[in-house]
Amino acid sequence: MDIWHVRGGNRLFGSCRVQGSKNASLPVLAASMVFPARSHIRNVPQLRDVDAAVSILSHLGCRVGREENELYIDSGFITDAEIPRELMAEMRSSVIFMGALLARCGEARLSLPGGCQLGKRPIDLHLSALHAMGAEISEEGRDIFCRAKKLHGAEIDLRFPSVGATENIMLAACAAEGRTTIRGAAREPEIVALQQYLTSLGAHIVGAGSDTVVICGASARESTDFTVPCDRIVASTLACACAAAGGRIILSGVNSDHFLTVLHFLNEAGCDIIHFNDIVEISSDGRLRSPGSIVTAPYPGFPTDAQPILMAALLRAQGTTKFTETIFENRYRQVSELRRLGADIRVRGTEAVLRGVKELHGETLTAPDLRGGAAMVVAGLTARGETRVIDAGHIARGYESFDDRLCALGAEVWIEHKGKGTDEDGNEQEKPAALQ
Ligand code: EPZ
Repeated sequence: MDIWHVRGGNRLFGSCRVQGSKNASLPVLAASMVFPARSHIRNVPQLRDVDAAVSILSHLGCRVGREENELYIDSGFITDAEIPRELMAEMRSSVIFMGALLARCGEARLSLPGGCQLGKRPIDLHLSALHAMGAEISEEGRDIFCRAKKLHGAEIDLRFPSVGATENIMLAACAAEGRTTIRGAAREPEIVALQQYLTSLGAHIVGAGSDTVVICGASARESTDFTVPCDRIVASTLACACAAAGGRIILSGVNSDHFLTVLHFLNEAGCDIIHFNDIVEISSDGRLRSPGSIVTAPYPGFPTDAQPILMAALLRAQGTTKFTETIFENRYRQVSELRRLGADIRVRGTEAVLRGVKELHGETLTAPDLRGGAAMVVAGLTARGETRVIDAGHIARGYESFDDRLCALGAEVWIEHKGKGTDEDGNEQEKPAALQ
């Protein structure tokens, strides 16, 4: 259990190279077992969710080596098509291994992590698409069994641009006979990264980043060397931290196109933003104004993952800000905790109305999930005194050395009781053997 201590009042100055993307790394790791190949994957963040994905790959028979942010994966021999429940529970998004297992082994046996967290998070879109491609699927409680003698291409229309469903279909379609077309596909940069990785191994995929992705079954190359793109939500988090605390920071290794909507609202709130090449500079006097209404939407709209974090940055902004959360039905779990700092936020259904207050005071808060925990750290930077965030390991799932990065920028942040992490349901986890 980690306890984050955040002392408010320091402005942030300096530069920071932003980590590789968690949400690009995870599908690429699942994809690494679609073909028997050796993959050298660079810029992989050192995170608990990545550890969990590596544990799954090792359990399935892959050989995985790691040197800091580089992974070497040899998926030449897959010895199992079942992911045990304890490995599935460590990471909510383990479901992205379903398509990879079906593609490689013709079967997949896994269970779904329960829990509500951000909402129900069903996988009906994943299952109906895989069924359309010829998979026979049965469910027993939380266990799912998929089998496909031979997957075949299909025309798939997604009623919602689900990121995970788009990824699962892309992975399964690599082994399907014929062409698969996904209409209404998710357009996130992580989908583009997955297409780049798979095509580097010989897959024939076009259209990622648009709402129509076309995949043809592929022959595979024996090896590839791939670099994970920057984490746009971590970049957004650091930008929000500077906006709230004041100061001037330079983020490097980023693609500003990937978080333009976040930068837009920070600029509207009074920050000066300059971006060129892989650099973004944010300056703020710490006295923000409301940027107006913010509605979360699938990419390229405002990202739901940045909603708690921008909310935290605006707690003392002059005026009223209205958030509308359209992606997850339970994504205001940070609100009750932020109100304990003195924030004025009222939630009504999918809307949260935030009225800026003059001052926040430090409190002891409990992180509800990954982005909610990060939001509390951002809020603590601008609260008077010390804010403690009791974190069940959520933040470490998505932020690499986040305390060190904030301290290097001048924040007063430290963590006590760094110990075992826990999964999203609070069960304590040991560091996986694959990476000890
Ligand atoms: C991915 O989750 C990200 N996770 C999430 O980031 C992100 O918030 C989300 O996309 C939306 O951008 C990873 O990439 C590992 P979805 P995913 O399928 O794939 C509904 C973080 O903090 N839905 O696009 O699970 C679902 O209930 C995490 O890094 C169905 O109804 O998201 C939700 O309301 C949190 N049926 C909406 O779609 C389905 O079959 C978006 O889900 C699938 C999804």
